[in-house]
Amino acid sequence: MARHLITSALPYINGIKHLGNMVGSMLPADVYARYLRQRGHDVLYICATDEHGTPAELAAKEQGLPVDAFCAQAHDAQKAVYDGFGLAFDHFGRSSSPQNAELTQHFARKLNENGFIEERAIRQVYSPADGRFLPDRYVEGTCPHCGYDKARGDQCENCTRVLDPTDLIEPRSAISGSTDLEVRETKHLFLLQSRLQGEVEAWIDEVADEWPQLASSIARKWLTEGLHDRAITRDLDWGVPVPADTWPDLAAEGKVFYVWFDAPIEYIGSTKEWADQDPTGARDWRSWWYGPDGADDVRYTEFMAKDNVPFHSVMFPATEMGVREPWKKVDHLKAFNWLTYYGGKFSTSQKRGVFTDQALEILPADYWRYFLMANAPESDDTSFTWEHFTATVNKDLADTLGNFVNRVLSFSKKRFGEEVPAGAPAGEAEARLGEQIAELLAEYEAQMEALQFRKAAAALRALWSAGNSYLEEKAPWLEIKTDKDAAALTLRTAMNLIHLYAVVSEPFIPTSAKAMRTAFALAGDTATWVSREEAKSLDSVPAGTRFIVPPVLFAKLTDDDLESYKERFGGEPA
Ligand code: MF3
Ligand code: ZN
Repeated sequence: MARHLITSALPYINGIKHLGNMVGSMLPADVYARYLRQRGHDVLYICATDEHGTPAELAAKEQGLPVDAFCAQAHDAQKAVYDGFGLAFDHFGRSSSPQNAELTQHFARKLNENGFIEERAIRQVYSPADGRFLPDRYVEGTCPHCGYDKARGDQCENCTRVLDPTDLIEPRSAISGSTDLEVRETKHLFLLQSRLQGEVEAWIDEVADEWPQLASSIARKWLTEGLHDRAITRDLDWGVPVPADTWPDLAAEGKVFYVWFDAPIEYIGSTKEWADQDPTGARDWRSWWYGPDGADDVRYTEFMAKDNVPFHSVMFPATEMGVREPWKKVDHLKAFNWLTYYGGKFSTSQKRGVFTDQALEILPADYWRYFLMANAPESDDTSFTWEHFTATVNKDLADTLGNFVNRVLSFSKKRFGEEVPAGAPAGEAEARLGEQIAELLAEYEAQMEALQFRKAAAALRALWSAGNSYLEEKAPWLEIKTDKDAAALTLRTAMNLIHLYAVVSEPFIPTSAKAMRTAFALAGDTATWVSREEAKSLDSVPAGTRFIVPPVLFAKLTDDDLESYKERFGGEPA
């Protein structure tokens, strides 16, 4: 059994995330983590909120809260939604934790000792009225390209052109509105990534071949364009302070690290939070991240959307290498394309699409988990539509799985009572079914291990369908009229399928899986994986086992439901 470290890109603290964020990071990581746990591996699934940077400061300001209070509240709000989605993190931390601050400062000191950090003077906008330097997006003005009068210093939202604050016509402070702005010289720390280019290239050549094409091609493209030295500090109040022992001047000026410098380090910081939380002290965070060979016995898989790939495939590894300590680097980087809403962008700022809290208001998590993973944007962008969603729920979840479970259990209860009936010994049809199930199970396992979620979901669906075909073929409602033992055999076999579904569906639909599993009064931990032999013989639930008929697993969605969703969220393309 192996040790698996799993992380999903850290969600920004500001705002509840939409379904597009969920499907490209936390949800697939959870499905994979659950699967590996069931297979008996030692799994650590780590995530956290990404709390520093300008967006957090701005969101706090908008709500009239101090930024630390805002973050604490927003963290809890996000955590509640993820609990609702059944995300079984080992730890969901906060990048503003002391653990992360300490590690971030350590990384910076080491990079400096190794000659990968340099102080450089740059020219930046200063606002005397605000008494501070303004980050690019805190400067507003008129776009020189399109004339939009609320363009930000980093980008014009109207024409999407990338800007420099000094490009803006009539620039003003986004904080105070003051137009009394100066350009002053100020010092920042630069990470000399250009010096690590060769090393990163060699490492990518070693590891990236097994990554999905999407991830490796983005990594290679960035390397071809060349690694540039980047400023890793900012003039903000909220962030990890530059350590005064190493850079007294910058620390005195209140400089903090840039959010993209400390955020990936929080993968480690959050692991340390996890360890520090254990009163027995038995959790060894270092063994997951650090070792003579960079924790070689750990397999590290990262999950993220494609815009995050450059930071994870190139920049964070460059940082880890420059530290010259044996930190664990990513083994497998699973990247996703975009989930679109009717072909347009999901947008947090424009409130377009479905947000994760709203999703849970409408339907339980399992509906979303299954739909999203079965349609994960793996090879291309995928469009979310309510028509597709309701059709998938009805066909796969309500008809193929839910109805099978309900039909088999209620019919058996009606005819044979509350215990699994014995009936005739398994015959040829059961042998054939067993072979088929074992084959589909092998396919499902292979796709899960390859992190091909759509294909894994298709294999799962095929397992469910196989049960339906068997039931149609044997037709116990007819058998019962002529041969009670034959009907009992069919039902017992079908009940064994339900139990197998309970086990293998758990990564995708944990709540429903539990309802299926606990329908049978079986002793022991019945959630552990099914062996090939068990799949073939289909007799883990012996005759005489008591069972109940659980409430309907998945409600069928009506045309009225569809209309009401479309009305609430808007169904038409942008
Ligand atoms: N918050 C970033 C985003 O949503 C992701 C940060 S991932 C980390 O795009 F590794 F930097 F933490
Ligand atoms: Zn513009």
